[in-house]
Amino acid sequence: MKYAIVLAAGKGTRMKSNLNKVMHHVAGKPMIGHLIDRLEQINVEESYVVVGYQQEHIKDYLKDRVNYAIQEEQLGTGHAVKMVDQLKGKAGKTILLYGDVPLIQKETMELLYETANDYDMVILTADLEDPDMYGRIVRGKQGEVQKIVEYRDATESEKHIQEINTGIYCFDNELLFKYLEDLTNDNNQGEYYITDLVEMFAQNNHSIKTIRVSDIDEVMGINDRIQLAKASHWLQNHINCHWMSEGVTLIDPNNTYISADAIIAQDVIIYPGVMIRGKSVIGEGTIIYSGSVIQDSTIGNGCRIESSKIIDSTIKNEVNIGPNAHIRAHSVVEDKNRIGNFVELKNTHIGYDSRCAHLSYLGDSVIGQHVNIGCGVVTVNYDGVNKHKTIINDGAFIGSNVNLIAPITVGENAVVAAGSTINKDVSAGDLVIERASRVDKEGYGIKYKNKPKIEKGKQ
Ligand code: UD1
Ligand code: CA
Repeated sequence: MKYAIVLAAGKGTRMKSNLNKVMHHVAGKPMIGHLIDRLEQINVEESYVVVGYQQEHIKDYLKDRVNYAIQEEQLGTGHAVKMVDQLKGKAGKTILLYGDVPLIQKETMELLYETANDYDMVILTADLEDPDMYGRIVRGKQGEVQKIVEYRDATESEKHIQEINTGIYCFDNELLFKYLEDLTNDNNQGEYYITDLVEMFAQNNHSIKTIRVSDIDEVMGINDRIQLAKASHWLQNHINCHWMSEGVTLIDPNNTYISADAIIAQDVIIYPGVMIRGKSVIGEGTIIYSGSVIQDSTIGNGCRIESSKIIDSTIKNEVNIGPNAHIRAHSVVEDKNRIGNFVELKNTHIGYDSRCAHLSYLGDSVIGQHVNIGCGVVTVNYDGVNKHKTIINDGAFIGSNVNLIAPITVGENAVVAAGSTINKDVSAGDLVIERASRVDKEGYGIKYKNKPKIEKGKQ
């Protein structure tokens, strides 16, 4: 059996934040999210997250994707692992991860499980030029691992050791829980350190294997905002290089933000300053210009998106969007549409080859095919209590500056004249005008302009 334990109960004091450290985002996703995604990808049978500080946030985010163990008081990493009562005495291999070491790749996790088939404990280590505050791997004369010493407990000579503990291990599960019982907190911080198990395993002749990582950034621990930015940069670069190798052009990869869950087809061109967030999909040959944000949305082939925001929506093929359009709340735009500048679509479906080119709001609407929506059209969908639906059927023409007070239906090929405010259905093929009647006053314009001005202070 493959088990996993992820420690996430600590506050993360050095982040100076009200948010639990593992909920801080790296490349657009909470640290803990990256770890759990990868555990799922390698089919770990049972995953446990140890929570404590602000556990509601973590549980709200991960829901029932994992099991939880509660650590009320943060008495150290060893104490945290002990809280996973559910795994006590079970046969299998357990990978132990720290929530604040989120960049570890799935291939590395798989290697740890594999190696653990032949050893009682596998430790992932790294050689660092500046070993900083990491725990040090102490070896004997034959190179055998003797123990891990925490920076705060290290002697001067131990501080010079450059091989560090990444905080990623794989244990024989039964031995792990057996020795947890013997941990003490007799150290500089008065904490129960999981790292003390190394010495116990060594002294009791249990086999220990170390694996050195090749890319030390993959095991970077995030304790403050500077490390957070560094980790985001590393992961973003990793994601961007992947998509470039798959045939996507990034005009400036250092200034392009693509989520780990996005899927991008070849010959897509992405300009600087674009954010593609969540589970978005971008189709072949689409061009996304600067300043666009696309979140949890699907964009088809051959689209052009200019500095626009598209959230939870679907854009089909050969659609031109923006500049400065805002499309949200499960809107769907069918093929060959044009959604122009300052247009907002909310929960709206637009049929094949229609136009909404300027300054309009379409909310809770269903728009047919070949419909023209003029400039400044507003679907008045909210009466202060409820939201109502607007239906505009195929071939209809809505003039500029029209208000459609919902619920309302405009029939096929009907025309609504510019400036009308209508609150009743329009029949197919009709033309409707609803404006105040015009008054012309001869010469009044000149008279008005020549009116004597009132000087300031004399009103
Ligand atoms: C730990 C290791 C150190 C290693 C480094 C790698 C120990 C004693 N030290 O140090 O050898 O080089 O990580 O990054 O393990 N946590 C709990 N409950 C607790 C304490 C911590 O859940 O009572 C969680 C934290 O939320 C965090 C993780 O465990 O996600 C690591 O704790 P942290 O205090 O950051 O350990 P380090 O000092 O970085
Ligand atoms: Ca840490």
